[in-house]
Amino acid sequence: MTAGLRTPLMLADAHGRVATDLRVSLTDRCNLRCTYCMPAEGLQWFPGEDVLTDAELGRLLRVGVELLGITKIRFTGGEPLLRRSLEHIVADAKSLRTRTGGTPELSLTSNGIGLDKRVSALAAAGLDRVNISLDSLDPQRYAAIARRDRLDAVLAGLAAAEAAGLLPVKVNSVIMRDANEIDVVPLAEFCLERGYQLRYIEQMPLGPRHQWDRSKMVTQAEILARLGERFELRPATEPRGAAPAELWRVAPDATQPGGLLGVIPSVTAPFCGACDRTRVTADGQLRTCLFSRTETDLRTPLREGATDAELAELWAGAQSLKAAAHGIGEPGFVPPSRTMSAIGG
Ligand code: 5AD
Ligand code: SF4
Repeated sequence: MTAGLRTPLMLADAHGRVATDLRVSLTDRCNLRCTYCMPAEGLQWFPGEDVLTDAELGRLLRVGVELLGITKIRFTGGEPLLRRSLEHIVADAKSLRTRTGGTPELSLTSNGIGLDKRVSALAAAGLDRVNISLDSLDPQRYAAIARRDRLDAVLAGLAAAEAAGLLPVKVNSVIMRDANEIDVVPLAEFCLERGYQLRYIEQMPLGPRHQWDRSKMVTQAEILARLGERFELRPATEPRGAAPAELWRVAPDATQPGGLLGVIPSVTAPFCGACDRTRVTADGQLRTCLFSRTETDLRTPLREGATDAELAELWAGAQSLKAAAHGIGEPGFVPPSRTMSAIGG
């Protein structure tokens, strides 16, 4: 076979999936301490020299997009807004060209704090969309979950994202028993009124050690039961595909304009079979799944002079071994040693 006829590399695995969606964590630090994610005292942060520089990150993104067929990049954390150079990183990523000649789709998962001051620059740099975490509209319940009294800052960030045209604005809510179950309907009303797409997320065992308790997790079925008492819901026609959210269309009524609501049932109805993700942590480790027990070090070869082609081969080789499913609930399931904030959501 001549070099010119070689099939381009892809991030394919042995279970028929091809990853085209890259989640990249820009920092493990955060200005909140959400109970389901971090202990109150925070974590031991990565030493500065372990974190990929903008140039190193830019190189990995280029390898992913140009050599491996990545078409979507989501920037996560910790809290990605804590990375001062985020606007620069976004602009750099937007200058890449996918294999079909388009630009990669760029989104941000953020807690929204400080977004109001930066969203115009981020949109100008090429950011397409944001997902903002918001678990309650009640200042006290918000502060009890995030362990910081910052609801107003989050709401300002949401409004600014909408004003900057990063549509549809998406909101993520983790629902937990005794903490914010009573926020299910108020969160939906708030989002429907503003045209935001709300997605409730089942709590996953990715927080502080031993903190997850299946009985405290509020399931998709319970969330739908609560919504069903207030709204008329119909399964949305969009096929689920690789999108983790199962969507429901809310019929308009006299009090709200209708719209879409989603649930991400990662635990009770995992979407592993359709997963199209690959992940890179802020310290340059490749993870093929949120729940991976192993990682592939991309940072060391990157710093030791590996070529783009060598990095691409390493990435594709690791991705080919991606596990079929996360196995939460199966005997022998062991959660990953990193928390969500150190992996990237
Ligand atoms: N389970 C489910 N979702 C989580 N997130 C963080 N930790 C967990 C967990 N243990 C979500 C946050 C945010 C995104 C970064 O990931 O709510 O929306
Ligand atoms: Fe920070 Fe997000 Fe973790 Fe909350 S869930 S502590 S906002 S990284």
